[in-house]
Amino acid sequence: MANVVLDKVSKRFGSVAAVDEISLDMADGEFVVLIGPSGCGKSTTLRMVAGLEPVSGGQILFDGQVVNNLPPKHRDIAMVFQSYALYPHMTVAQNMAFGLKLKGYPKEEIRQRVDKAAGLLNIRELLGRKPRELSGGQRQRVAMGRAIVRDPKAFLFDEPLSNLDANLRAQMRVEIKRLHQQLETTVVYVTHDQIEAMTLADRIVLMKNGKIVQVGPPMEVYDNPVNKFSATFIGAPKMNFIPGRLVRDGADGLAIEIEGGRLAVAESRRATYEPMLDQPVEIGLRPEYLAVGKADRPGTAEFEAVIDVVEPMGSEALAFFRLGDVELAAKCDPHNSPRHGERVSFRADMTKMHLIDPRDESVVQVAR
Ligand SMILES: Nc1ncnc2c1ncn2[C@@H]1O[C@H](COP(=O)(O)OP(=O)(O)O)[C@@H](O)[C@H]1O
Ligand SMILES: [Mg+2]
Repeated sequence: MANVVLDKVSKRFGSVAAVDEISLDMADGEFVVLIGPSGCGKSTTLRMVAGLEPVSGGQILFDGQVVNNLPPKHRDIAMVFQSYALYPHMTVAQNMAFGLKLKGYPKEEIRQRVDKAAGLLNIRELLGRKPRELSGGQRQRVAMGRAIVRDPKAFLFDEPLSNLDANLRAQMRVEIKRLHQQLETTVVYVTHDQIEAMTLADRIVLMKNGKIVQVGPPMEVYDNPVNKFSATFIGAPKMNFIPGRLVRDGADGLAIEIEGGRLAVAESRRATYEPMLDQPVEIGLRPEYLAVGKADRPGTAEFEAVIDVVEPMGSEALAFFRLGDVELAAKCDPHNSPRHGERVSFRADMTKMHLIDPRDESVVQVAR
């Protein structure tokens, strides 16, 4: 197990800065998820940690030792990719044992390690099969088994679940999390799937254009995005963005004027938002804080709109509606949802809103 540090690590491909001075301190045993849109530099970062790609600048340290010039095989890490790359002519057991055999481990130790990993992954009954006799999920497990038997300092995963169907992905997510709880090995996991990031990570590292946008535990990033990009990328269904203007409300209050209403700013937020008075702003509000119904307590505000589409999902329903030219989603009771075309009241929990400055799309940070 290892503590992995990136210190101003960069990677340039010609004139492209694929990774741009990234600094990150990953604790021993931590599960860190690198997430961001395609092309933001996740895989390149992972490949530099693995030693598959030399850095253009900065340092990578394992347990305090600079590993910049250490070849991959001496870094003692295991990588699991989206493509499993199993040897087709070898059995599962042989595939899992292959790396250890190359390194000259004694037969009995190899047998024990393969057996233990197979037990952890629940694939003991598959050990005699060839890869072509396995399902996608089983192959993915074997690929992980091959990594586990090496007992590496860290696991590096690059979109390991992307080839699986939705059900299997959900199942494997839970298995990977359970495995990490048992093995307690440092994991750096790359994905573009925000659900994987939310569910698996101790800490999320959100990237864009080769840079880190935000780092934090999943619920902290979810609750306190630093900007509109972070607010949009993390969370499903997506956060609502309502354009408006911050105006005076009564003697010392504030409100946000939007199409179809005027939403009083919660008292606890007034001082923080005051400097934005009379400016165009955007409200960021997750669908769970926007409900069909009347304002029912201090801190909630109300407006009206016409229901466009309702999506019942069993445990909840989402009501879609438009304000001007933006489409918004609110939660509603799946057993008692409004109908298409109905004009209804919506209640916004203004204590959960984010105030976005449209000039740079930053979220005005509220003291916590
Ligand atoms: N071998 C390479 N040669 C040139 N450009 C590359 C190479 N690998 C990646 N890139 C570029 O670097 C950027 C980051 O790529 P990558 O790390 O693969 O992104 P991600 O994994 O987040 O989708 C992209 O613009 C990509 O086109
Ligand atoms: Mg990638």
